Amino acid sequence: MKKPSAPTIRIDPVDPSPDRRPEPVIRVEGLRKHFRSGGEDVAVFDGFDLSLLAGESLALVGRSGSGKSTLLNILSGLERWSAGSVTLFGDSLPVDSARWSELRRSAIATVFQEANLMPALTLLENVRLRADIAGHADAGAMGWLERLGIGPLAARYPDQVSGGQRQRAALAMAFAMQPRLLLADEPTGSLDGHTAAEVANVLFAFQQAQGCPLVLATHDPALAGRCDHTLRLGA
Ligand SMILES: Nc1ncnc2c1ncn2[C@@H]1O[C@H](COP(=O)(O)OP(=O)(O)O)[C@@H](O)[C@H]1O
Ligand SMILES: [Mg+2]
Repeated sequence: MKKPSAPTIRIDPVDPSPDRRPEPVIRVEGLRKHFRSGGEDVAVFDGFDLSLLAGESLALVGRSGSGKSTLLNILSGLERWSAGSVTLFGDSLPVDSARWSELRRSAIATVFQEANLMPALTLLENVRLRADIAGHADAGAMGWLERLGIGPLAARYPDQVSGGQRQRAALAMAFAMQPRLLLADEPTGSLDGHTAAEVANVLFAFQQAQGCPLVLATHDPALAGRCDHTLRLGA
């Protein structure tokens, strides 16, 4: 009887990709979001893909109502979607997972249009509280308020400052929590042109120094132009 020949062992050349390719921080596949409105099915997104690496920035642009805030809410785990998958830090997350609450506490900073400051705390106390909740006690809270141009207002309460100043305090809260992902909804929307440019400088300096991926919604072409990528939503 013929001895079977030794099986050939094939050694494939080592390919550095795709295994060694960095895992995207955000991976969205086939994302669809529909609303029922007046008995009609209204599509906000009808299936798109997106991926963002650590250190990259993405601008969401498009007319009002195109879904920018909806997408930011989905990425923060605060809104359901209709179909598709959302993977953050390598985990594919269902919308109501406890992991998402944990990420919101410690890793995902959100700067939304309605700056969510605690009204009974001063701006400085708000920033310190946010850092503390994320596990970074007093992570340079005062320094962030100063860099954002509102240091002199640190002892004021949210209702004693303007909307634009509250928006900057919300950014200071986001920076002080040392996030692994920063989501910002029109972060310079209520600032004058000069202040908006200064705040954008601080935002991108933070993003680059920390290698923190950033997704921001904006109507400002100058701000969008500073991001690595642009996603245009809507028609
Ligand atoms: N709960 C809801 N029910 C029905 N439609 C909604 C709901 N929330 C948002 N929409 C619709 O989804 C679309 C996207 O809204 P939004 O994400 O706020 O847009 P943008 O931030 O780009 O202005 C809008 O047409 C809005 O009317
Ligand atoms: Mg919006």
